[in-house]
Amino acid sequence: MVVPEAIKTCFREKFGFPDAPLIGQVATVTPDGPTIRSMRMYQFNEAGQLIFMSHRHSHKWRQLVQDPKLAICFVSSDLLTQVTVKGDVTLKQGTPDLQSYWENVRLDVRKIYDNYDVEGPFTGVKDLTPPKLCPDSFGLILVNPTKWELLELSPSDYPASNRTVFHLEHGKWSDQRVNVG
Ligand SMILES: Cc1cc2nc3c(=O)[nH]c(=O)nc-3n(C[C@H](O)[C@H](O)[C@H](O)COP(=O)(O)O)c2cc1C
Repeated sequence: MVVPEAIKTCFREKFGFPDAPLIGQVATVTPDGPTIRSMRMYQFNEAGQLIFMSHRHSHKWRQLVQDPKLAICFVSSDLLTQVTVKGDVTLKQGTPDLQSYWENVRLDVRKIYDNYDVEGPFTGVKDLTPPKLCPDSFGLILVNPTKWELLELSPSDYPASNRTVFHLEHGKWSDQRVNVG
């Protein structure tokens, strides 16, 4: 399942992706209610999945093991474009192809993947060494989108803004322009 063309174009033209980092607010579901955090979307793969990199001992990973669903919101830096997506999640760990993703993790970020308690009280930074090979604590979050929504604000005439919803129908994206809310 590929990403709708309008969404790809929007990420390129309004967010500068993939040349610029693409940061979204990623919401997960827990028995206590929703939780949210910023994450960098690494790429879309050929199947139209969104790929995020994460620590497997983090809250979000545990939440996604329990309930593999999430929603993401991206807002452009000029504050005129919003893209939201909902999807089902596949978690990936321990496969040889993860090494190439690992090599794209910043060296200083890699430090938290070695013998480190991502949830614990602050312990100082001195003795942390980044593992060279992809550690077991590193994983990928693959999002299989089930709904996309694009909102392109008209700067001076809000009701004229373009809000388009994309739904999956028989394996294809159908889109419908709807009123802004
Ligand atoms: C701009 C920005 C980008 C971030 N990108 C990631 C990311 O790609 N992966 C990640 O696990 N955490 C990322 N974080 C950290 C998360 O927001 C979060 O604090 C951390 O992952 C712990 O979240 P959790 O306790 O919900 O698992 C980023 C934070 C910021 C501010």
